[in-house]
Formats: sequence, structure tokens, C-alpha cells
Amino acid sequence: MKKRVVLAYSGGLDTSVAVRWMIDEWDVEVICVLVNVGQDADTTESFDDIRARALGSGATDFVVIDAREEMADEFCSRAITANARYEGKYPLVSALSRPVIVRHLVDQARAFNAQAVAHGCTGKGNDQVRFEVGVHALAPDLEVLAPVRNWGMSRGDSVDYAMKWDIPIKATRDKIYSIDENLWGRAVECGEMEDPWNEPPEEPMTLTRVRTERAVEMTISFVAGRPVAVDGVAMSLADLIGYVNHAAGATGFGRIDMVENRRVGIKSREVYECPAALALIAAHSDLEDLVLERDLAREKARLEIRWAELVYDGMWFSPLKEAIDAFIDETQQHVTGDVRIRFSPPGAMRITGRRAPAPLYDYGLATYDEHDTFKHADSEGFVKIYGLGVKTWAARQGAKNATPPRQ
Ligand code: ARG
Repeated sequence: MKKRVVLAYSGGLDTSVAVRWMIDEWDVEVICVLVNVGQDADTTESFDDIRARALGSGATDFVVIDAREEMADEFCSRAITANARYEGKYPLVSALSRPVIVRHLVDQARAFNAQAVAHGCTGKGNDQVRFEVGVHALAPDLEVLAPVRNWGMSRGDSVDYAMKWDIPIKATRDKIYSIDENLWGRAVECGEMEDPWNEPPEEPMTLTRVRTERAVEMTISFVAGRPVAVDGVAMSLADLIGYVNHAAGATGFGRIDMVENRRVGIKSREVYECPAALALIAAHSDLEDLVLERDLAREKARLEIRWAELVYDGMWFSPLKEAIDAFIDETQQHVTGDVRIRFSPPGAMRITGRRAPAPLYDYGLATYDEHDTFKHADSEGFVKIYGLGVKTWAARQGAKNATPPRQ
């Protein structure tokens, strides 16, 4: 019997050629699985067209899985509670979709009784790491195949290969940009952006093109760290993300242009469009400032950095990441309240207010007016003892810090 392989299929040139190539070179049977993580937002192609291409490439079967709600509820929601920005900037757009895809690949491999799964990633990126480490975390017995890493074809060669085998592709030899998208945003690479000095072109951008001159204001409501409503209208997280992407993106907010460190040691220039991710994380983090106790907030901030690195590096399914999840979940109990945001074209965003039913902000303690409840005299002893060590040091050894007397 032939080896059966479940391929993470996108419908693009590489995965279509991969179907035929694996059949041709490795004599395997290929099942294509397309996991919809929201990449259909601005494509004109239907899943029926993609199915035809998969089968036309030689696949035995084609399965589409709608994982949009799952991606929002189980993956984006964790990125929000972790205020996840890799290297302080990137909200993990592509990194977040890979474990969703991995989960379904493994499920389908079981359903079809397959011995292997396959992906269409090259050897230079992070996604190969995320697929392979992820699959092995869920199914140590499954083999992972990476045809694109083996075949050594250029883009032109792939187009020729597709023509030779009559694979119905839309891509042409001069497709310039590499784009990965899902409901959390878009990652745009290649073309003139490969020179980090060049300004990113408008042409491949969709979410963050300025489409209005008017400022947009909205109030995001959170319950236990999860966004649940915009301007009082409750919606599913997937819909809420879609709404914010559209409304905030129209003002030009949400573009990131950065040089990042890939897991494999390559620096890469990336342009992201992710208005909802940036706005929701900013709002969530702001609400935390109001409700989290100081030491808890500081420790959480340290773990957030590690969380984002783990997820970027393909460790979604790993014991450390899961332990940090448990810590973060514990912190979110009182992260309930509203945050108001104003988006001003082109591209500016400001948080203009926040409120919560259980804030740690105490008006009586904070105010300077006659409602002040703070006992100022209590501070006298506190400050003396707090500064005692430094005072002792200054008396014995530290006088050098004083302004020297004028000559
Ligand atoms: N560098 C980003 C990451 O590793 C995005 C990669 C997405 N791929 C693409 N074809 N643009 O998460």
C-alpha cells in the first residue's frame, strides 16, 4: 500500500506543485487539507476553485476546515491576554495560525489513517519549525515531510513544473510579494521590501490603506481579559477582530515595518498589517494597568516576553508555554472593563479612557483635592526607612555625587 500523506494546502503555487511532486518523486497518496484561518478575507477565489486545483494536481481528496472561531477563541484570545508582541512589535500573525493548522492536520491524518503530514515551507523560515515541532508535540509517531525543502526548484522552475503537469495555477513567474494572512492580520514580504531602506509599497496592502479622513472612536469591553463587545454591541471574538480590522484599518492604523530575528538565525524585513491585533492588545494592556496589582503586573510583563518568543519559535504546544498560560489565566480574573480608543487618520491611535468595576485606582488616594483620604504623615517614617541604606552609603562613601563647589 502507498504511504498516505496529509498536506497543509493553501491553493498557491508551492503547495499545488508539492502535491504532484510528492506523487511523482515519492510515490505517495496525497490528501489536501485547507484550514480556513481567515485568509479568505480579500481573495476572489472560492474554495471550489481551490478544490479543483488540489484534485487537478493529483490529490486523492480535499478537505476544507473552517477554523476561524477556533483561531479567535483559543489562539488570538491568548495573544491578547499575553499582550503578545514578539521583539516588542510583532503580534504573531503567522505564528498564531500555525498551531491551529497543525491541530487539524494531525486530526485529518488520524481520520485518513495517514502515516505522514507535509507542509510547503522552505528551509529558511519560521513556519517549517512551527509545523514540525507542533506536529511532533501532538503526534510523535507521525512523519513530517517538507517537499519544498527537498526539491531545490526556483519559482520559475515551479511554474514550469506546473505547466508540464497541467496544474491549473493562477500565479505567474513575476508574482512579487509573499503574503500570509489570517484573521489576526497580514504579513507581507519580498519585492522591493527586501532592501530594508526602501519604503514599503502600497500595492500589496489591503487592511491599512487609508480610506477615510474622519477619526473613529470606539469602546472595547473586556470580561476576564477577553474582548466581548464594541460600543456595547456583543459579538464573537472572530467578528470583533474583523470589525476592528476594518474600522481601525480604514484610518491607516495598524501597519508595522520592522526587521525581526527568525528562529533560524536570519534577520528579515517584514511588513505587517494588523490593526485589530495592535488595538486590542493596547486596550487590554491599558485595562490591566487599572486593575492589576503592581508586582503581579511586573512579573506578568516579564513572562509576556517569553510567551511571545515561545509562540514565535513554534512552541505553542510545550510545557513552558502551557505553564505560562496557567499563570496568565490566573491574572485575568479582574481584567473586566471598558477602554475607549480614538483612531485619527492617517495611522494615529490613542487610548482616551478606561474604566472597570474593580479598579485598583482609588480616587480618594490619588486626588489632590479636599476628598484626599491619604494620610500624608504616614509617609514620613516610610520614606526615612526606604532611603536609609542610601543615606548611610552617602555619609560614608557616596559624597562624590554632590555638585562640586564652584571654583
Ligand atoms: N516573519 C513572520 C513570521 O515568521 C511572517 C512569515 C509569513 N510568511 C510570509 N509568506 N509572508 O511569523
